[in-house]
Amino acid sequence: MKKKMIFGILILAAIVIAGVIIYAAKLGKEVEIKTDKRLSGVDEEIQEVLYYASLAPNSHNAQMWKLQLHPSINELYIGLDNKRLLKVVDEENREAYLSIGCYIANLQAAFNAYGFEMELSIFEKPDTNGNIAKVVYKKTNNTVDKKVLNTLEKRHTDKTAYQDKILSQSTVERLEGEDTVCFPKETEGFAYLQKETLEAVTKQSAEERFRDELAEWMRFSDKEVIEKQDGISAEQMGLKGIVKTLYYWTADRQSAKGDKFAQQGIDTAKKQVENCAAFLVVTGEDNMIGWINAGIHTERLWIKCVELGISVHPMSAVLETSPFAEALQKDLNLKKTAQMILRVGYVNDYGKNTGNRRDLNTYITTK
Ligand SMILES: Cc1cc2nc3c(=O)[nH]c(=O)nc-3n(C[C@H](O)[C@H](O)[C@H](O)COP(=O)(O)O)c2cc1C
Repeated sequence: MKKKMIFGILILAAIVIAGVIIYAAKLGKEVEIKTDKRLSGVDEEIQEVLYYASLAPNSHNAQMWKLQLHPSINELYIGLDNKRLLKVVDEENREAYLSIGCYIANLQAAFNAYGFEMELSIFEKPDTNGNIAKVVYKKTNNTVDKKVLNTLEKRHTDKTAYQDKILSQSTVERLEGEDTVCFPKETEGFAYLQKETLEAVTKQSAEERFRDELAEWMRFSDKEVIEKQDGISAEQMGLKGIVKTLYYWTADRQSAKGDKFAQQGIDTAKKQVENCAAFLVVTGEDNMIGWINAGIHTERLWIKCVELGISVHPMSAVLETSPFAEALQKDLNLKKTAQMILRVGYVNDYGKNTGNRRDLNTYITTK
């Protein structure tokens, strides 16, 4: 009798546990973000172009761009949204301008894919409306290059551990260029970047102001992701299924500012720098135009990586923290200042962009 009861309890417990696991796994399915692309008085094709442009990489996914569109004269002005700048990690707006550069590269690729030519002028300094670049576009053919659009949808930051596989010499040669230097695994430069990155991450993690700013841009539920359409979701951290559910169940903005969360960040960074094939360093001039150009260059390089099946993850702590940033150019023997450090490598399943982007009408005004 007693045996039967224990058996019954065990069966019941197993059913409950299985139920919780199935429920947690279901809750952990990928969040669906529906960006509203509608802009009144604007052709659907231009709306699509602007959506694809917004899939550009950008610091903390703050999407710090602001646009003014004049559809009747085919002109577009691009500026920075001051309310979305990262005052702690990016005091000089260096990363904000890099992000604008990435946006411009995507805009160009998307315009071309929809059969438009695009002419870009970058200003010496922001104009009185805060605009930093002007784009004039013109329709020149009626074909749509789906391959390019698929590549833009596929491009994303992959923070997972990469395979052991190294980059072949011919791949390194395809990636390197005037402003790109590759430091493959087992080179001195690679070991230096591994070490400096970990030290910089550790230093940042110890400072309250860095933790607080990052926590503001972290997202802690599907609901928050859908409402805000920006910041870093669980999916963007590489968390899936039950792991994603457990993360959202256990973490919140307050805990993300604490010591335990900071230590987890350091441990994750260690796994990341130990599991990749190389670091790509993008260099450029140290001023507004230089940063925008370095952003354009970074995004074109990233698109090339997507085409080659190479995953990419910017790791910027070294560039954001003293004294690491100052030492980099000399220590790595670079011709110009390092502007981006990209961890690269191969993964089993390449994945795609989560599409965590804001509705177009929240940052684009039409005149
Ligand atoms: C200038 C710049 C710096 C970045 N630095 C980091 C970084 O230090 N760590 C990181 O995980 N991602 C970094 N990223 C990637 C962004 O977090 C990412 O692009 C953004 O969250 C949007 O996600 P997506 O690239 O998957 O579209 C950086 C991106 C840019 C443009």
